[in-house]
Amino acid sequence: MKNKNIEKTSEKIQNLFNLLAPHYDQNNDIISLFMHRLVKKSVVEAIPEIPEHSRILDLCTGTGDIAALLKKKFPNADITGADFSDEMLKVAKRKHKKLNFVNADCLNLPFEDNSFDLVTISFGLRNTVNFDKALSEISRVLKPGGIFVHLDFGDANKHADRVFYELVKFIAELQGDDCYVYLLESKNEFPPVEKLVELFARHGLKYELRRDYLMGITSAQYCIKH
Ligand SMILES: C[S@@+](CC[C@H](N)C(=O)[O-])C[C@H]1O[C@@H](n2cnc3c(N)ncnc32)[C@H](O)[C@@H]1O
Repeated sequence: MKNKNIEKTSEKIQNLFNLLAPHYDQNNDIISLFMHRLVKKSVVEAIPEIPEHSRILDLCTGTGDIAALLKKKFPNADITGADFSDEMLKVAKRKHKKLNFVNADCLNLPFEDNSFDLVTISFGLRNTVNFDKALSEISRVLKPGGIFVHLDFGDANKHADRVFYELVKFIAELQGDDCYVYLLESKNEFPPVEKLVELFARHGLKYELRRDYLMGITSAQYCIKH
């Protein structure tokens, strides 16, 4: 795997995911040994009950896995999946024909203040070029008392991290591309969960619960907007 630092700009991230989109689901299955499906299911199942006709926003929805799980758990809710990669959205729309997907940048959301009861973001915040701006937008569109759920890599122990690294390296070599070098870089640069929840708090998102999966390779945090 070539060691080249990929400079993070919104345009590059967008291009990267447009490129990855056709193989995104398949590669996730390989990297996680299919475990990402179980983790996402469990993270959504642990969301507390919300009013029946709530408005829900799944940011950085990608191919729509979380949006689809949310629809199963909250069948009468009004759910929107948002992403800024047209190619990821194309796959999402093909997979989940009845769900609503929009192209939106989570650094500048096209939604009104205090308009959602629940906002989720899975493996997305890490990919944005400005965590503070993304969190201020999330906080802005969330109703007071609304729930924010964040899922991403966590604070894995050394052995679990090594297994993950080898799987990503395997994919990168198999496909001969540098996209997955970016994944490893962004993972290493992402704040540990303890720092992350401090950042959430600065945006009025009070951390209530944490659930770690796969020996901490992934971690979900549940917050309430105050
Ligand atoms: C690793 S994928 C995660 C997809 C999905 N949530 C999942 O858990 O499988 C990250 C997604 O974030 C999107 N993304 C990154 N920065 C974004 C931004 N500023 N606004 C909207 N989407 C963004 C990418 O296009 C990509 O689809």
